[in-house]
Formats: sequence, C-alpha cells, structure tokens
Amino acid sequence: MSQRLAASSDDSKLRSLPADLDPARLPAHIAVIMDGNGRWAQARGLPRVMGHRAGVEALKTTLRLCSDWGVRALTAYAFSTENWSRPGDEVNFLMALFERVLQRELQALEAEQVRIRFLGDLQALPDRLQTLIQEATSRTAENSGIHFNVCTNYGGRRELVQAARKLAAQALRGEISPDEIDENRLASELFTAGEQDPDLLIRTSGERRISNFLLWQLAYAEIHVTDVFWPDFDQLALLEALRDFQSRSRRFGGLDGLTDPGTLGS
Ligand code: IPE
Ligand code: IPE
Ligand code: MG
Repeated sequence: MSQRLAASSDDSKLRSLPADLDPARLPAHIAVIMDGNGRWAQARGLPRVMGHRAGVEALKTTLRLCSDWGVRALTAYAFSTENWSRPGDEVNFLMALFERVLQRELQALEAEQVRIRFLGDLQALPDRLQTLIQEATSRTAENSGIHFNVCTNYGGRRELVQAARKLAAQALRGEISPDEIDENRLASELFTAGEQDPDLLIRTSGERRISNFLLWQLAYAEIHVTDVFWPDFDQLALLEALRDFQSRSRRFGGLDGLTDPGTLGS
C-alpha cells in the first residue's frame, strides 16, 4: 500500500507481518463476527451502545492490520437481519453510527486503496445511509487494495432465498435450464459473488455459533473463537487467530499429505 492514513503517526507506518507467521499460508479472506460490544460496555458500567462505538475502533485496527499483512479480503458482520428485534434506541444508534463512521472514514479508505462493499438487504436501511453506501461503494470500486465487505442487514438464509428466486426467475424466462444450476451459478447470485470463500472465521465474545452468517461461504472455513469482547480485539488477538489458523491441517474432505488419490487403489 503506497499511502497510509495521515490521521495519527501510529497509523502512518505499514506494519510488517510478525516473523512467526508464514506469509505463504495466510488466510486470503477473513470473516469476522464482531460480538460482545454490549457486554464490553456493561462490564464497564456504560450503556451498551458505547460498546458499539468502541467496536468501530477495533474494526479499523483489524482492517489496517489485515491490509498491511497481506490478507486480501475482510468481511465483517455489522448488523444481522435478526438485529432489528433489538430495542429501537439501539437500532437507531447503530444506523446513525454506521452513517457517521462511513462519512468520517471514506477519504481514508480511498487513500488506503480499500475497496468497500456492503452486503445485505440494503433497501431496508435509512435513506441517508443508503446514499452514503452507494457513494462509498462507487468511489472505492476501482481500488486495488483489500476487499472490505461490511455485512449490514445481512442474513445467510435470506441471501440464499434471494439467490434461489433470481435463478428461478432466470429459468422461467428461459435464460437457463434448471440443470445448469450448479454450485458456481448459485455462488454467483450471492452478495459475495466474485469473492473467494473465507478461509478463517473469527468470532469474539466466546459464543460458539454462526448466527446466520455466510452459511454457504463458510463451508470449509477454519473457525477461531476467542473470549475477547470485540472492542478489545487488537493486534495480539488477531495474531492469535492467525497462529491458530496456521496450526490447522485443512483437509477439505481428503487425507493429510495425500496429493495423488490414485495411490490409494480402489
Ligand atoms: C455485536 O455486539 C454487535 C452487533 C450485533 C451489532 P452485541 O451488541 O451483540 O454485544 P453483546 O453480544 O450483546 O455483548
Ligand atoms: C451476530 O451477533 C450479529 C453481528 C455480530 C452483527 P448477535 O449478538 O446478534 O448474535 P446472537 O444473537 O448472539 O446469536
Ligand atoms: Mg451479541
């Protein structure tokens, strides 16, 4: 990355990958369920929403580190289709926060060559936020750096239903036959079309569930759960996740170290 944020001196230098990590075995795409904002705040006697505010800083740090260390894509779960069931005040705070942060950070994202996209059912978001999202998406579309996907009003099941509807409509119009619907075609109708599947899923705050996140795309992701609440997720926590990832043996249904299936015989 040629240009760095000028906002503070600490941000302006490119951080190099810690020596114990193998650059050749970094996850190309990291997905993160940023959980525990509310509990982080409550533990400090603060209102829950202060945890969301602090969570933004953790996301900025994570994005910069991923970008500096050579991770090609970061997909963060910011608001689920189920999160509308929270108290109206909290939902409104989150929408206003998304707006404020996007407005404030857009220039920096542009300068850092980040390509930002928002994945989810965006029509349900407040108009002003939708406008900002369009602006941010188009202004960074040609950027050559990290792909930063923010899942906003995102639900994995809804995404799959919406893909099924699109394919059904194409079939009805005679553009495709049902036999042509295969994994690639289905994946091409998801919000993540064109993005490689995540290699690593990180969930903070100790919860061991997927909560309707990237149900299709996480098929073979390695899962790292940490007890750290999202606002406390820092360089060390990311490093631990990457070390954990590099300690895994990814088999994709095959066997360790077996390159030629023919050697097994039948
Ligand atoms: C995650 O933190 C952020 C969003 C879901 C928007 P939470 O708000 O879920 O925090 P906890 O899980 O209640 O602590
Ligand atoms: C998942 O966290 C959604 C986001 C991080 C945006 P939740 O806090 O909503 O998930 P549950 O309710 O614990 O499953
Ligand atoms: Mg939560």
